[in-house]
Amino acid sequence: MTSSPIRAVVVCAGILFLAPRAWADTATIYPSKDNTLYENNFGSFSNGIGDHIFSGRNNSGQRRRAVMYFNVAANVPGGSTVSNVTLRLNMSRANDGSGARTMKLQRLLADWGEGESDASANEGSGTSSATNDATWKHRFYNSTNWATLGGDFAATISASTVVDQEAAYTWGSTAQLVADVQDMLTNPGTNYGWILIGDESVFLTAKRFDSKDLDNSHSLWPRLTVTYTPPVPVGACCFANGTCTVLTSANCSSQSGTYQGNGTSCSPNPCPQPTGACCFNNGTCSQLSQTACTNASGAFQGSGTACTPGLCPVVLTPFVDPLPMPGVAQPTSGVPGGVASYRVEIQQFQQQLHTDLPPTTLWGYYGQYPGPTFEAMADTPITVDWVNDLREIGGALRTTHYLPVETCLHGAENLAKTVTHLHGGHIPAAYDGHPDTAFTPGNHLVYEYGNRQLPATLWTHDHSLGMTRLNVMMGLASFYLIRDTFEQSLGLPDGIDEIPLAIQDRTFNPDGSLKYLTVWDEHFFGDTMLVNGKVWPYLNVRQGKYRFRLLNGCNSRVLTLALSNGASFSVIGSDGGLLPAPITVSQLTFGPGERYDVVMDFASYSPGTQITMTNSAPAPHPGTPGVGVVPNVMKFIVTATPGHTDAVPGSLRSFDAIPEGDAVRTREFILKKQADPCTGQAWMINGLGWDDITEYPKAGETEIWSFINQSTFTHPMHVHLVMFQILDRQNFTLSGNTVIPVGPRVAPPAHEAGWKDTVLAAPNQITRVIMKFTDYTGLYPYHCHILEHEDHEMMRQFSMGCTKGDLDQNLKVDGRDISLFASELITGGTPGTAEFCAADMNDSAGIDEGSDLPSFVDCVLNAVCP
Ligand code: C2O
Ligand code: CU
Ligand code: CU
Repeated sequence: MTSSPIRAVVVCAGILFLAPRAWADTATIYPSKDNTLYENNFGSFSNGIGDHIFSGRNNSGQRRRAVMYFNVAANVPGGSTVSNVTLRLNMSRANDGSGARTMKLQRLLADWGEGESDASANEGSGTSSATNDATWKHRFYNSTNWATLGGDFAATISASTVVDQEAAYTWGSTAQLVADVQDMLTNPGTNYGWILIGDESVFLTAKRFDSKDLDNSHSLWPRLTVTYTPPVPVGACCFANGTCTVLTSANCSSQSGTYQGNGTSCSPNPCPQPTGACCFNNGTCSQLSQTACTNASGAFQGSGTACTPGLCPVVLTPFVDPLPMPGVAQPTSGVPGGVASYRVEIQQFQQQLHTDLPPTTLWGYYGQYPGPTFEAMADTPITVDWVNDLREIGGALRTTHYLPVETCLHGAENLAKTVTHLHGGHIPAAYDGHPDTAFTPGNHLVYEYGNRQLPATLWTHDHSLGMTRLNVMMGLASFYLIRDTFEQSLGLPDGIDEIPLAIQDRTFNPDGSLKYLTVWDEHFFGDTMLVNGKVWPYLNVRQGKYRFRLLNGCNSRVLTLALSNGASFSVIGSDGGLLPAPITVSQLTFGPGERYDVVMDFASYSPGTQITMTNSAPAPHPGTPGVGVVPNVMKFIVTATPGHTDAVPGSLRSFDAIPEGDAVRTREFILKKQADPCTGQAWMINGLGWDDITEYPKAGETEIWSFINQSTFTHPMHVHLVMFQILDRQNFTLSGNTVIPVGPRVAPPAHEAGWKDTVLAAPNQITRVIMKFTDYTGLYPYHCHILEHEDHEMMRQFSMGCTKGDLDQNLKVDGRDISLFASELITGGTPGTAEFCAADMNDSAGIDEGSDLPSFVDCVLNAVCP
């Protein structure tokens, strides 16, 4: 017997942190409390901290019942499955003659206490209770009673054992005892322990057992032995992408994760984070985790991505540079706008295209990008000596291109060749900048431009065969404006209120260099928009009207321009000159090569108002709304200065529609992509190539050209030499190869119903244009103005002036010198071809260049002039 108040009340033998294994563990649990309910003394005796507990009846018939509580939940891991339970009690005293008696273990249904009562001697009579002792009557002396005298317990017998003389006895393992312990583990709040009930049917059956208050030895204490299978342990499982999931070790490894150990947690995420390329605005790249990248204001490119050269786009801030104004091209003799001679050196140079960009290496007319604007008057001729002066940094003439050249494209060579085309010009073939005539550095060509046409917004750009996209990308573009006195009398905004805007998209490398594809692709879409050679510039505008000559100078990108405040503006002209009247629009869609002459009015805005010129056209076009869009173009900032406030005249230049009935023929052009040995695919017109000449328009005749777009992209179709009018557009479907028109022919919107040289041919539409061929002879290109298409292979030639005189004069047949046919012994040929003519002559009369040439020419003419 002892009275030590600080005796251990529980001994924990369970294992709290378990190795990952599936076999059973055992917990040995001693009571946290035990006591005896004595029936004598009006049921108010107990033996809280006495050394013994009792069950059975004494020699005067009074009952004793031992109660004991084991803290299962503290000793068996939650979630375990209990498989075996035994209770061992050591009997230390039995009345002589008490005999072999069954002792039953039953679950207590209410809580009870163990106070400081401590009976003397053999403890068989108990003693007066202390506070909170359990007694026959009380659960907690002297405040709470059992509902039933002698304790509240389950009817179910959890286990029973026959006890006799002093010895250790074991209860269990029974299914009920296992169920009891499982429940005590799961619901610790209803674990009140067990009551041990002896044989109460006769007197003198009491037995004494050792309690957990017996000093010295655990071995004599009540002992609950629980065998259980611990729950399968879990822990954090790290995956290669840095994510974390709590899993069992086995599941973790079966999913190729790395197990972090039992009991480890995913919060916070302990997993090593994968790294990837992280792009910064200046185009640099670091290998970082996503978090580190985001924290450093970078753009994460994805786990596992690497910092490959050119991966990171240069991100530039819009609207920080003022809009450059291209200067006026200065002649070497004469004056701009008059009869004049120009010498234009095409040079390589560097120019800064955005404040945050290093200078970019470019090619330009007069060494500027865009080149200075040619000012010309209608019917006032000028000459331009186009000089290819492209040089390496050191000063030597270039022997290679600056950009990578895809040389399998037709006509492409790794040379710095260039030839200049005046787009929209009505000019002799010899001065048209024929793609086959591109020439290398150190050479030059003098072109004569008669300006025998309506005043219009023209532009010059390179036209080298197979390399136009590269040369225009490098900067070879400028405006060429033709005016006349009538136009000047209209009172349109002029001087500082008339500004050409060349819009071109570009992408940059961090060093400022242009980023262009190294292999041919069917499109180039830049990620920035340049106007007059600056990325996203701003323009301070006066409170008044501006005349903007809009040029879509992009390689591939269709533009849909609008103003950010939703304001409308006037279209006063198209490719070929003024419209009959201004047309009000709120947006304008136009493709590469097209121009629109517009008037925007800032008179009504207060100073400081900022209006962005926006673009909403998907790339590729027509595409999906929002896809590929570069939304900003430039910004207008309204100043307090009054500007041009005169009204735009309600009528501009008279215009006569060409009657459809004037057309002597309609030519059909099927636009679609075809297989190609060079790049796998090429854009083609009627499936024919550059040297397949099948169109021979005659001077004085009117023709309708019908572009049948069987692709999914819009093609801006351009015809050299002539200005045309758009007749209409009509949808079609295909039945096999047969084009079946669907629905009406729809006339173009008013702003397109003027003089045009480039027309948007939309997918699944027949776009018809009508034009009158008036003069000039020779070969002229017609093509898609998406430069990537034009270079491969969506450009063909028509042959003007298929007359005997012209053929004699040029001595060309299908582009080959006619004398070749007369000097080669051609022994075959299809009737209707030049080869046939030559072969026929050879058979009948032999070759005599002098005398037989005229009949040969007649034969050939019939072949080539259908
Ligand atoms: Cu603007 Cu043949 O091109
Ligand atoms: Cu052209
Ligand atoms: Cu095209």
